[in-house]
Amino acid sequence: MSNPFRGRSLAVIDDFSLDERLYLFEKARELKKHITSNNKTELEKFRINDSDFGVYEVFIEDSTRTKESFKNAAEFHRVKLSSLETSHSSINKNESFADTFNTLCGYDNLVFIVRSKQEGLCRWLEENGKLYAQRNRMKQPPAFINAGDGKHEHPTQELLDEFTFLERNNWSREYIHIALVGDLYHGRTVHSKADGLSIFRSVKVDLVAPKELAMPDNYIDRMRENGFDISLFDSIDSYMESGKTAPMWYFTRPQLERMGDDILKRQDELRRKIIFRQEFLEKIPEGTIFYHPLPRHKLYPTIPTFLDTTPLNGWEEQSANGKVIRIILLSLIAGIMGSGFSGERRGGRAAGESENFIEELPVKDYLVTKDYAEGVKPISNGLVIDHICRGESEKDIREHLARIIRVLELYGKGGEWISSSRSQPEKMKGIIFRPGQTEPGSKKMKQLAALAPGCTVNIVKDRKVVKKLKLRMPPKIYNFPNISCRNPDCISHTSQGENVPAEFDRITGDKFRCKYCEKTHTFKEIWIQ
Ligand code: NCD
Repeated sequence: MSNPFRGRSLAVIDDFSLDERLYLFEKARELKKHITSNNKTELEKFRINDSDFGVYEVFIEDSTRTKESFKNAAEFHRVKLSSLETSHSSINKNESFADTFNTLCGYDNLVFIVRSKQEGLCRWLEENGKLYAQRNRMKQPPAFINAGDGKHEHPTQELLDEFTFLERNNWSREYIHIALVGDLYHGRTVHSKADGLSIFRSVKVDLVAPKELAMPDNYIDRMRENGFDISLFDSIDSYMESGKTAPMWYFTRPQLERMGDDILKRQDELRRKIIFRQEFLEKIPEGTIFYHPLPRHKLYPTIPTFLDTTPLNGWEEQSANGKVIRIILLSLIAGIMGSGFSGERRGGRAAGESENFIEELPVKDYLVTKDYAEGVKPISNGLVIDHICRGESEKDIREHLARIIRVLELYGKGGEWISSSRSQPEKMKGIIFRPGQTEPGSKKMKQLAALAPGCTVNIVKDRKVVKKLKLRMPPKIYNFPNISCRNPDCISHTSQGENVPAEFDRITGDKFRCKYCEKTHTFKEIWIQ
């Protein structure tokens, strides 16, 4: 029976389906039991036990818990563990990530644990690794585990957090009410919760952060899409006043290393809003428990050290769970465990590419003069792109017409203008006329659909419309030279110089998600010109 986990990468928490995560937790529960009872015979069954199995840690950002728990997990497995000295590696000589990792793959390493400032790096390495494995006839492609990428995600922390919450909930998945407190803007561990908490059937999340450190909108949107009930508070004080605090609080540290000077100047004031104070203690209900991915700041911890000896301390058990979870993750990826899995496998998050977004409409037998009478002389032969940005403001339509012309290089003679829609005169639309031009080829047509969804393309011959196409928003925008993700920390951003081709999947309406960093863009924001 094939093992669905063997060689799998984990770039975001959603790379493992709910069933796959539950399977991992079940195995982690068993392992924890055998560790507690020190049952050596049972523990053997979890080990990879192969000194040629190469696990490589590549930490370009600092780490204690994630790096060391993976190291301890690899030691449990008795595999070959290496760690790249990133401060002395050729990454600092401007070597691309693809070249660095291809080299390490060539030394027979199969699992890479990667922490970076660049967002979406593991997704890119996964793709690049597949091609490398094909070229070099490797038995299986290398797996990449995201150990935290910039402000994006931290899926293995999410796994251990979910496991810890379930353990606390006596393994019930029915309901969770949790407060996320602290730096929700930069904290990748809380971003992973936007999908991760779906492990519970009903989810209530209280977001407690001043607006400068608030959860980014795209994660709030994702939580809402996932059916979570969300409440927002700008400080612990206002949260306490609500009188309806959650039984679980998940604190994060203000990530000063990622903040700009403006916010840093105000760090004391912002900290005060997210540090738990002695006076709150008597107001929180009994049974409340606190978690934290750690580290805590030694001078200004959001969970002060006087709480260490109270029943609020859930973060030590949480941290210890990190090793157990990472042992199982490695067992699964190595394929020594998981062949008995029969649940639902991971499904794609993005829309299918096959969606029909270029539709040919029946042409009515009408003259161009009648239909396109506004403006200069109607054309006898050529191309008319109509209904561009229908319903938008005149300024927005003008700007977008200029963008379409630049991207598609529609520089020939002709004109473009704004007109009111015939069916809804209060709505404006843009039109481009290009006399003498023929029907655009399929690549250009796809580009036009991604630039002007909703438009119609009319091919005019002898003053008659002989072909009419309606273009809709495509399910994917990719493979064009003039598109880019707007996030400068994304691995596909041109400033990273990694030559990663930008790619976007449509979520809903005109919203697209970057394949790598998952930042949400409107279709207009994708175009760099
Ligand atoms: C977190 C991280 O690196 O994102 N730490 C961790 O992995 N345990 C949180 C943090 O650095 O504040």
